[in-house]
Amino acid sequence: MGILRRSIVLILTSLLVIGAVTPHCQNGGHHDGNKCICGTSFYGTRCEFILSEIRPVVNATVNVTVTVVETFKDELRDPNSKEYTDFVIRFNQQMARLYSEIPHYKGIFRGVEIINITEGSIIVEHILLLKIYADEYDEIVDEVFTLLNHTNCTSDTKTERLCFKANTTKVQPVPLDFKEICLKSLDIPKDIQEYYSPVNVSGKTMCVSRCSVNSEDPINCNKGQCSVTRQGPNCYCETSPDYWYSGDRCQTAISKPGVYAGVSVGLFVLLVIIIALAVFLYRRRRPSNKERLIDENRWYEEGWEEENRGPAASFSNSSASDSAVPVNSIFLPDLEKVNTSMKVTVPRANVVLSGNPYERTT
Ligand SMILES: *[C@@H]1O[C@H](CO)[C@@H](O)[C@H](O)[C@H]1NC(C)=O
Ligand SMILES: *[C@@H]1O[C@H](CO)[C@@H](O)[C@H](O)[C@H]1NC(C)=O
Ligand SMILES: *[C@@H]1O[C@H](CO)[C@@H](O)[C@H](O)[C@H]1NC(C)=O
Ligand SMILES: *[C@@H]1O[C@H](CO)[C@@H](O)[C@H](O)[C@H]1NC(C)=O
Ligand SMILES: *[C@@H]1O[C@H](CO)[C@@H](O)[C@H](O)[C@H]1NC(C)=O
Ligand SMILES: *[C@@H]1O[C@H](CO)[C@@H](O)[C@H](O)[C@H]1NC(C)=O
Ligand SMILES: *[C@@H]1O[C@H](CO)[C@@H](O)[C@H](O)[C@H]1NC(C)=O
Repeated sequence: MGILRRSIVLILTSLLVIGAVTPHCQNGGHHDGNKCICGTSFYGTRCEFILSEIRPVVNATVNVTVTVVETFKDELRDPNSKEYTDFVIRFNQQMARLYSEIPHYKGIFRGVEIINITEGSIIVEHILLLKIYADEYDEIVDEVFTLLNHTNCTSDTKTERLCFKANTTKVQPVPLDFKEICLKSLDIPKDIQEYYSPVNVSGKTMCVSRCSVNSEDPINCNKGQCSVTRQGPNCYCETSPDYWYSGDRCQTAISKPGVYAGVSVGLFVLLVIIIALAVFLYRRRRPSNKERLIDENRWYEEGWEEENRGPAASFSNSSASDSAVPVNSIFLPDLEKVNTSMKVTVPRANVVLSGNPYERTT
């Protein structure tokens, strides 16, 4: 019993703590005071569901080599020299400025990573880091090349700018592995990426879960909401005004009016049982007149038999207040009229006997 009670208390406490600690919006959503504003892949009143089709945004790179028209100094061979670090800072700033002009949507530029600086004017081999929709990679590589090929100098400010030697720029794409795209998607949480597969949907690369109709093996949640959890795709059954849905695919409809009717009938039956029980108990505690007569007779007889058990005074003291048997001291039963065999056939009389004033007062 103790263990059970402690477990219940523990569970209730845990629920309270979880309820208090869990933020209202899940999966990185934030509350604007009115509702949850969800991240790109999430939806639901608490951002609890993840989309079944996600256009994957990935980290991508492009290998680029440019020739900067400046005199190569020997110090640039030493990555620890001041010349080297100063050049790297200037190069990063100027290239960031240039690459931010890539005509595609803003914010795709993530940075520049210098791989090698060699002589020949100054040949800079670097990696352009991007964050893009996977299916836009080829288009963006073309834009990068066109931008570089049409740029003589990064700015008009003579001291800071970099000028490039025409027709020497090399742009080498580092193709994304189509099969791996969903495992690299930045909008799908790591622990559920495995439940998404890449497919081409109307010209766009999409990561779809089995909740999507575009999946090779789609799940039908019927009237429910399909969403991926850490355990895989899952059906969340919804309710409509008339039905509840259950089953692992929400395939079972439970009629609300039916349930209400069933519960009502059940409650009514319960009520009837309770009333019947109450009546039964009441009748048991207050014996019928006939029984009372017998009881008193019996008590009377026993009173004589057990005369020595208590003083006669208790006889009148214990009047009907708590005894089920009203004691009438002047009652003189007519033994002729009493069916004495009844006391044998009615066992209830024994129960009532516990109210025998003789037993109480001794
Ligand atoms: C994507 O690139 C950014 C920096 O550009 C890095 O911080 C992040 O860890 C990368 N994410 C993945 C999944 O490679
Ligand atoms: C830099 O490029 C030169 C010439 O192509 C090459 O010999 C050298 O190994 C490269 N260094 C690095 C760190 O890639
Ligand atoms: C690069 O730009 C030059 C003009 O500056 C142009 O003649 C050349 O065709 C371009 N190269 C490519 C591959 O587009
Ligand atoms: C780049 O330089 C070439 C000559 O080297 C010139 O014809 C061209 O107009 C310049 N382009 C820009 C954008 O300044
Ligand atoms: C660059 O190459 C193109 C041909 O690909 C040529 O027409 C153009 O004159 C070259 N530009 C320079 C500055 O050498
Ligand atoms: C891009 O550059 C990286 C780092 O130098 C190199 O490992 C990779 O092989 C290059 N990829 C291509 C396609 O040139
Ligand atoms: C989808 O399109 C990409 C390029 O847009 C292609 O590399 C890939 O093979 C296509 N995949 C399928 C399954 O058609």
